[in-house]
Amino acid sequence: MEELNNFKETTYSMPRIGDVAPDFEALTTKGKIRFSEYAKEKWVVMFSHPADFTPVCTTEMSGFATRKAEFDALNTELIGLSIDSIHSHLAWVQNVRENTGVYFDFPIIADIDMKVSKLYGMLQPNESETAAVRAVFFIDPNKKIRLIMYYPLNVGRNMNEILRVLEALQVSDKHKVALPLDWNKGDKAIVPPPKTLDELNERLQDTTLEKVDWYLAKKEIYN
Ligand code: BEZ
Repeated sequence: MEELNNFKETTYSMPRIGDVAPDFEALTTKGKIRFSEYAKEKWVVMFSHPADFTPVCTTEMSGFATRKAEFDALNTELIGLSIDSIHSHLAWVQNVRENTGVYFDFPIIADIDMKVSKLYGMLQPNESETAAVRAVFFIDPNKKIRLIMYYPLNVGRNMNEILRVLEALQVSDKHKVALPLDWNKGDKAIVPPPKTLDELNERLQDTTLEKVDWYLAKKEIYN
């Protein structure tokens, strides 16, 4: 009951899949950016972490940094965010580099006024009123939000899953297919179900597909 009484209502916006990514200006570790001008014609993975100099966040940011080449290969720019100052970000980047040799070579937004966190639903006051949750936004080259993840403060994300869904979104766009449970690169993809009787008859005749039934059929995809 006490927990219910402490429930905090907010009017912060909560972007949804399919929305145009809200625009903003911000200071980052790579200088000032206007988001709508950032990474033109590329995918963007924007992610928040609760705080600099904290253990789980250090492992996650190091994960993004060490696997940056895989994001590059998927035409994707990274951008981090937390409700910390630029000085804190710079000190943390330098500290991790000194300790481990890992360098966070992507911009990290210093969202000290919480403007971007509130705009993107990263500030979830029933989890924390001062720290952003662990969010990940997948934004396509048309600036449309395509997938959103929100994790709590105490559970780190999975870098394989972040890369998997990024690739799945791109494969889906390119080949006009859908991706089944646990899909990974190289696996067969689901072809859209027929929408007319002609398409249904065509599907029934098609011997190239792996068919469970007419509405669930898979095919190989080659890059
Ligand atoms: C962490 O990154 O370790 C952390 C940050 C905020 C709250 C809890 C854990």
